[in-house]
Amino acid sequence: MTTVPRSGEDLFSLAPVMPVVVVEKAEDAAPLARALVAGGLPGIEVTLRTPAALEAIERIAREVPEAVVGAGTVVNTEQAEAAAKAGARFLVSPGCTPDLARAMTDTGLPSLPGVATVSEAMALLEQGVTALKFFPAEASGGARFLKSLNGPLPQVRFCPTGGVTVQNAPDYLALPNVGCVGGSWLTPAGLVAGARWDDITALAREASALRH
Ligand code: 3PG
Repeated sequence: MTTVPRSGEDLFSLAPVMPVVVVEKAEDAAPLARALVAGGLPGIEVTLRTPAALEAIERIAREVPEAVVGAGTVVNTEQAEAAAKAGARFLVSPGCTPDLARAMTDTGLPSLPGVATVSEAMALLEQGVTALKFFPAEASGGARFLKSLNGPLPQVRFCPTGGVTVQNAPDYLALPNVGCVGGSWLTPAGLVAGARWDDITALAREASALRH
């Protein structure tokens, strides 16, 4: 079983890529997670964007212990609490408010709060948070933006997500302030709907071979 992450930084050490998955049918969750783990990606962010998401987290937590399942797209206190109750081992949010930051901390789970500006990163740094999601990465300035942040905020590390692909991931992973990248390219809807788990494992294997 993979080590339980205790901090945002621990999430960065799971793999170079964090798959961001949208689960439409809860019964897909466990085979999907097994396919990603088989390809070398144990950390899995299940987005809370579908009615099946919480059950998907529950199933992965129960049936695929070698995966480290977390909840993504957490935007309010209720979702943070529900995700923790479902068995999520970490939380990821697209942006952050003081209430949401408090709610995520209160669950006791490690989290990656989302930021897209220097001031947002500084506000979380003031609270001692140094592991952040950078979202939407490509639309907010991409790797060049993150490179610029390493001078003034060297203590902060990011998981850029949003528009990240296997092609541009190496540009991010080459930066000292990138802990890992996140993306949905590992689990295209067509492959999930067709239960093409081997194809997903192949995508995961390619992603897990990316290195800093
Ligand atoms: C996220 O929630 O992190 C993003 O929607 C994933 O972005 P992508 O689909 O561009 O990888």
